[in-house]
Amino acid sequence: MKKKKSPLRISFVAAEVAPYAKVGGLADVVGSLPKALADLGCLPRVIVPRYEHIRLADMGAEQVAVFSIPFAGQSYNAKIYRSQLLHARVPLYLIDQPIWLSSGDIYRQKDSVSDSSFLLKRFLFFCLAAQTLITKLRFAPHIVHVHDWMTAPLCLLPDPTGRNANGSKRVLTIHNIGNEGFANAELLNLVGLTLRSFSPLTRSKDDHHFFNTFAQAILEADCINTVSPTYAKEILTSKFGGGLERVLKKRARNLRGILNGIDTEYFNPASDQFIAEPFTQDSLKRKPANKRDLQKNLGLRVSDPAFLCGIVTRLSEQKGIELLIHAMKHPVSKDMQFAILGEGNAEYEEILRSLSHDHSGQIAFSARYDSHLARKIYAGADAFLMPSRYEPCGLAQLIALRYGTVPIVHDTGGLHDTVVDFRKRNGQGFLFKGFAPKEFLKVLDAARREFLVPQRWQRLQLNGMSADHSWQRSAQEYLQMYQSIVAK
Ligand code: GLC
Repeated sequence: MKKKKSPLRISFVAAEVAPYAKVGGLADVVGSLPKALADLGCLPRVIVPRYEHIRLADMGAEQVAVFSIPFAGQSYNAKIYRSQLLHARVPLYLIDQPIWLSSGDIYRQKDSVSDSSFLLKRFLFFCLAAQTLITKLRFAPHIVHVHDWMTAPLCLLPDPTGRNANGSKRVLTIHNIGNEGFANAELLNLVGLTLRSFSPLTRSKDDHHFFNTFAQAILEADCINTVSPTYAKEILTSKFGGGLERVLKKRARNLRGILNGIDTEYFNPASDQFIAEPFTQDSLKRKPANKRDLQKNLGLRVSDPAFLCGIVTRLSEQKGIELLIHAMKHPVSKDMQFAILGEGNAEYEEILRSLSHDHSGQIAFSARYDSHLARKIYAGADAFLMPSRYEPCGLAQLIALRYGTVPIVHDTGGLHDTVVDFRKRNGQGFLFKGFAPKEFLKVLDAARREFLVPQRWQRLQLNGMSADHSWQRSAQEYLQMYQSIVAK
């Protein structure tokens, strides 16, 4: 009799998961890809730190174990809580440890601690604790799937189940090459690692005692991927590789680009409870009610002909905020409006606050992330701006497309792969090449002129709304990647 294939067991280990612990798109991916994999018959589980702000009772989490983790010459008790991903029957494990994980913000230590290597220690501890949890609770995953520099060190830890026998394989997803974790011999020793196995290619240029754990994990993972085909090519160049292009080139054969998806049930203009007037492709005429609602809500001048541009973003250099600021200071028309939701860099916040103060009615800025307001912007704006300097994938443009809001983006990374230029037959949006204020203003002007011709604009909206950016296809690609290394 033919033996039935057992479902693929995958342990996701990550620093963020939406909606409980979210700074960027990483959280959305970790919160939604496992669900799509479960729909394909896999058995995923997700493991994240329990940060201080996470209210375990609200998410129905129950304690299932306590483990003692040897770290830095001491033993630390870590409590393990079990819950589920939101709207999915995928187990979510949270590791609580007051000193290393459960105090301070996700990427900020408590004010009372002043240790410049705290974050690296936090995530080294987390990797070790996650490894212990996987072993002790006998998950026996076929795949341990880690994300970005924070959990990349898990690829370096010896697999207690015997890596090359029936042990699990390591998959590393690069969501953003821009952040890295450097360690010296002393820091590596905290988790029992030595520098002996580190490649000279991972040595820091600034301090030769330090080595890049992310880079070393790129060399050692069984398979690596990034979140769009174009970014997968870009990071092999010195312009985008941030110094890691040399290690990436060594792994080029095992580096894939798999586009992110979005949770299309959660982001659904037809049933979204948080927008003023739900709508579909067939009832696009309802969308302007959302525009008026957004204008009213944010104190913008209520006007249908105004060209309302929405922005939902982290305020970081990556996101091209200086181009946005330039465009707000030099709008291509008096009829332009900007609705910005974003937090991050304090200087950017200050500039945006003062711009919105000086141009109230035309520019509205909100610095506190609010998922309901975000959806009102996706639904109410005419266009959505993403002039990112670089963009591994980008999720906001996918949500905008779904809500019939036309994206205007820098032609890079995942933006290149997901937005079809307005001049093409199935055009959906506007792309500009050359990261410069002049180019951005030019494309804004071109978009505004299209906006003035309603049937042309509507064609872009409908093309965007009919594009499929659900996780289905990409989850299938992840599954193929997993299967290809498990079979080896
Ligand atoms: C990072 C990238 C973004 C990507 C997200 C999820 O935030 O900057 O482009 O969409 O990760 O993969």
